[in-house]
Order: sequence, then structure tokens, then C-alpha cells
Amino acid sequence: MKKTILTGIRPTGRLHLGHYYGATKNWVTLQEDYDSYFEIADVQALTDNFNNPDKVRANVREIAIDLLAIGINPNKSTIFIQSMIPEIAELTIFYSNLVTMSRLYRNPTIKTEISQKKALFGNNGEGVTYGFVGYPVSQAADITAFKGNLVPVGEDQLPLLEQCREIVRKFNSIYGDTLVEPEAFLSKSKRVKGLDGNEKMGKSLGNAIYLRDSQEDISKKVMSAVTDPNKIKKDDPANPDVCMVYYYHNLVESDNLNTICEECKKGARGCVQCKKELINSINKILDPIKEKAKYYEDNPEVVDKILLDGTKRAREVAKRTMKNVKKAIKIDYDE
Ligand code: TRP
Repeated sequence: MKKTILTGIRPTGRLHLGHYYGATKNWVTLQEDYDSYFEIADVQALTDNFNNPDKVRANVREIAIDLLAIGINPNKSTIFIQSMIPEIAELTIFYSNLVTMSRLYRNPTIKTEISQKKALFGNNGEGVTYGFVGYPVSQAADITAFKGNLVPVGEDQLPLLEQCREIVRKFNSIYGDTLVEPEAFLSKSKRVKGLDGNEKMGKSLGNAIYLRDSQEDISKKVMSAVTDPNKIKKDDPANPDVCMVYYYHNLVESDNLNTICEECKKGARGCVQCKKELINSINKILDPIKEKAKYYEDNPEVVDKILLDGTKRAREVAKRTMKNVKKAIKIDYDE
């Protein structure tokens, strides 16, 4: 029997290279070996976008298009919409009894996010909602509804996974062995830096290259990338380790990586030339993705059908889990 992987993504914007190299490229490989569930986490997205439902709504299809375009195969994997699986919300309620308030407030990921969202939650988090503090419980429901064995995530998600594991252990110890305890499946690739040298590529930081950016936009963004500040003239030797252009050549695995590095160190390559080569490397990766995306953009009904079919399959699995959970909690009145 294949093991099950379950992971999710919040539909708050299109995918960029940070998502791609940080996570989703890996999902494409994993779907070959695992029973794979990819959740479009619209309920979770609403926890900090409850005042902007249009954004979440619009991005559900955009994320689906991006996932299909990078090679998530709907015949091998299940892509589904979180809000269309009411069993996830139901599980969340039962799990919420097994989590203390102090434990939720101590979650490092939640703490960081609250401090980053001052406009929404107040300067000292005084306006934080029940739903937001509780989203790790809902995420535990996402994972366990599908009996996920492995959860491919980045390091920032580890506290959420730990919370899920605690809930599972507590549930199983009180009600009997029912839920599967998942393990994190850390992706090898780490956080992707921005072309501006920022530690993270992100929408809110304005330094992201989106998978469906036009060639013109990609050129503009790469041309403005930060290079070694000590290199003034074209033939000054430079340090590739402090250059974002080299960092990206490395990330996208440009063909002549060693040559680029050596020439840069010797002062045998100008930054403009180097940026042009990077633009070519990025286009080589993104052109086919964009072409595939174009098909789905032109045929949105195909995308919607894939989402509805996936959600239907996923719901069958969640229903089975729900049945076991109700039996374990002794609220299976109709059995
Ligand atoms: N919290 C995840 C993120 O922000 C998204 C997510 C939702 C998720 N449900 C999940 C990740 C279940 C792993 C498993 O990226």
C-alpha cells in the first residue's frame, strides 16, 4: 500500500518561484510514489482574509491552474477545495476540546504571524480572532481526515505539525486508536530569497517572480536584481556569494554554473550579460509552464471539473474518517 501525503496551500495569490522551489516542484515528484492530496485551503485563507472574500474566491482557480501547469496530474493526485469538505470543519470542533488555549498561544508560527498582521490583529495582538488562533486545530483536521502519513512542508510549518501530532495522540489515548499520527516531510529546498536580497521571496515584499509573469516582467525584475556592491566596473572581480543573480542561477540550475562562478570571480563577466543569461534560464523553465497554464486559462470549465471531481473523491475519504471518529467519541447515533 502506498503511503498518503497531504499538504495544503492558501489561495491568496498566484504561485511564484519561492513557492515553486520551496515546495510545489517537490509535490510533482512526490505524486509518483504516494497517494497524494493537495488541498486548496480556502477556509484557512479566510482566517486572515475574512474581510476579503473576493481575493480568496478568485485565487482558488488561479492556484489550481498553477498546480496543473507545473505538472500536478489530476489522474494521479487529488486536488480539492477545503470548504467543500464539511467533515473537516466537524473534526475541528471535536479536536478543539483536546487543545488548551495556552498551547495555541505558545505556537511560534501563530505568534510570528500575529505580530506580522498588526493591521488586522492590532499592535499587540489584542484583536486576534478565535478562528486565527485556532487554525492549527483546523489544519490537524485537514491532515487527519485523509489519514495523511507524511506532510510535505517547510520548516515554518513544523509547530503546526507538532500540534497535529499532539491532538492525534490525545485523541487516540482517550477514545482508542483511531487517527493516524503524521510525520513532517521536510522539503530539501529551503526558503527562497528575493532578487532584492531579502531573506524571503513574497508577494507582500514586492520581490516575487510569478510562474505566469510575462517575459517582459521577468526581464525587468531580473535586471533590477542586487549584485555584489563592490563590483563597479564590468571587469572588476566579484563575489558570487553575495550576488542575487548568481544565487538565482544556482536555484534554477543554469547550465554553465561553474563557468558563471569562475568568470564572476575573475572579473571576466559583466553583470548585464549575467542577468541576460539568467533571464534565459528562467524563461526556459517558465515558458512551458505558462503554455500549459494558457490551456487551463482558456478552458476554466476543465479546471472547475478537476476541482469538483477531486473534492468528491476527497470527501469520500473524509466521510470514512468521520464515521470512525464519531464511533470513537460515542456519538454515532445512527449506527
Ligand atoms: N498552513 C499551510 C501554509 O500556510 C497551508 C496548509 C493548510 C497546510 N492545510 C494544510 C499545510 C495541511 C500542510 C497540511 O502554507
